[in-house]
Amino acid sequence: MFPSKLGLFAIIISIFFCVPVESKCSKGCDLALASYYVWPESNLTFISAVMSDQISDILSYNPQIPNQDSVKSDIRINIPFPCDCINGDFFAHVFRYTFRADDIYEKVAGKYYANLTTTEWVQKFNSYDPNRIPDGAQINVTVNCSCGDSSVSKVYGLFMTYPLRPGQSLDSIATETNLTTAVLKSYNPDANFSAGSGLVYIPAKDKNGTYPPLNSSTSGLSVGVIAGIPIAGVVGALLLAVGMYFGFWRKKKVKDTSLSSRSDDQSLQVSRAPGSALEKAKDSTGILTGSSLGLTGLTVDKSVEFSYEELANATNDFSIAYKIGEGGFGAVYYAEL
Ligand SMILES: *[C@@H]1O[C@H](CO)[C@@H](O)[C@H](O)[C@H]1NC(C)=O
Ligand SMILES: *[C@@H]1O[C@H](CO)[C@@H](O)[C@H](O)[C@H]1NC(C)=O
Ligand SMILES: *[C@@H]1O[C@H](CO)[C@@H](O)[C@H](O)[C@H]1NC(C)=O
Ligand SMILES: *[C@@H]1O[C@H](CO)[C@@H](O)[C@H](O)[C@H]1NC(C)=O
Ligand SMILES: *[C@@H]1O[C@H](CO)[C@@H](O)[C@H](O)[C@H]1NC(C)=O
Ligand SMILES: *[C@@H]1O[C@H](CO)[C@@H](O)[C@H](O)[C@H]1NC(C)=O
Ligand SMILES: *[C@@H]1O[C@H](CO)[C@@H](O)[C@H](O)[C@H]1NC(C)=O
Repeated sequence: MFPSKLGLFAIIISIFFCVPVESKCSKGCDLALASYYVWPESNLTFISAVMSDQISDILSYNPQIPNQDSVKSDIRINIPFPCDCINGDFFAHVFRYTFRADDIYEKVAGKYYANLTTTEWVQKFNSYDPNRIPDGAQINVTVNCSCGDSSVSKVYGLFMTYPLRPGQSLDSIATETNLTTAVLKSYNPDANFSAGSGLVYIPAKDKNGTYPPLNSSTSGLSVGVIAGIPIAGVVGALLLAVGMYFGFWRKKKVKDTSLSSRSDDQSLQVSRAPGSALEKAKDSTGILTGSSLGLTGLTVDKSVEFSYEELANATNDFSIAYKIGEGGFGAVYYAEL
C-alpha cells in the first residue's frame, strides 16, 4: 500500500499541479461575419447557397447594397455565419459544400469560398483523396472565425474573418474599416497586413450599424475558464475513474448495499462527462493509466490502488464532513488512507 500517512487529498492536490490539460475554447458564439470578395460571374444566389444564408439576411448586414440584383463584383460583402468552437481547439464554422464535376479543393477554397479558407485547411477536414472526389459528395469547408478576446478589449464583440488581398496594407485596411491601426494590430498581433493573403479578424458592426460589445456570456474564453479546465479535467478524470469503478462494482456485486444514492450521482456524471477531457488528462500525463480505468480499483501513479471500500471507509461513506469542495464534475473528498 501507500507509504506513510499521505492521503488521497495530497494525491489530488499533487495531480492538480502537475497536469496541464490544454483546451483553447469551450464554446463559440452565434455570430461572426465573413468578408466575401465578390468575384466576377458570382451572384448573391450562389453566395447565399455556399454560405448557407438567406439573401435577406445577407442584405441586412450590407446596407450599401440596395437590392440583390445590384451586387457588383470586385467588392467585399459581409456574410453572417455562426462561429463554433471546434474540438475545443479553435473557432471556426464547418460549411458543407456539394462537390460538382470539375471542382477541386483549390477552387472551392480560393473561389467559391473567396479565400476565407485555404486548400490545405479544407483538405484537412475531408477524408477524400484530393484527386478522386466523387460528384455530389458533401465536403467540409472549415472557415475560421473569432468571437472576440476579453484580454484585448471588451469594446468589440463581433468579428469579421477578412482574407487579405494583394495591394492591401495595415493603413489601407484601417482607412477602409474606419478603425485605428492599433485596434487592428491588437487583434492580429502576428499578422502581416501587407502579405496579400492570409486571414485577419476585424471588429465589425451588427445589423444596426453599431459595434456590439463583447458579451462575457457568449464570448470565447475568459482567464477563469482557462485556469479551470485543467482542474476540472483532473477532477473529472479522477471521479470518472472512481465512478466507473462504482458502476462496475455495482454490476458485479448487486447485493452490495453500501452503494448509496450518492454513487448514482457519480454514475450519472460518468455518462455525462465528455470523453475528451478524460482522454486528454490521460494522454498528457500517463498518471491515470489504462489500468486505472481497467475497473480493478483506482490506480494512481501505477503503484497505489484503492478499492471502493477503502475510499468509502476513509471518507466515512463519503460523508459531508470529509467533503472539501465541489466542481462541475463532482465532489472532492479529503481522506487519509
Ligand atoms: C450565379 O453564379 C453561379 C456561379 O458562378 C452560376 O452558376 C449561376 O448560373 C449564376 N446565376 C445567375 C442567376 O446568374
Ligand atoms: C484568392 O487568392 C488567389 C491567390 O491570391 C487569387 O488569385 C484569387 O483571385 C482570390 N480569390 C478571390 C475570390 O479573391
Ligand atoms: C485556422 O485556425 C487554425 C488554428 O488556429 C490554424 O492552424 C489554421 O491555419 C487556420 N486556417 C486558416 C485558413 O487560416
Ligand atoms: C466532415 O466532417 C465530419 C465531422 O467531423 C466527418 O464525420 C465527415 O467524415 C467529414 N467528411 C468528409 C468527406 O471527410
Ligand atoms: C468613419 O467614421 C467617421 C466618424 O465616426 C464617419 O464620419 C465616417 O463616415 C466613417 N467612414 C466610414 C467609411 O465608415
Ligand atoms: C509582409 O509581407 C510583404 C509581402 O509578402 C513583405 O514584403 C514584407 O516584408 C512582410 N513584412 C514583414 C514585417 O514580414
Ligand atoms: C437593433 O436595434 C433595434 C431597435 O433599435 C433593437 O431592438 C435591437 O435589439 C438591436 N439589435 C442589436 C443586435 O443590437
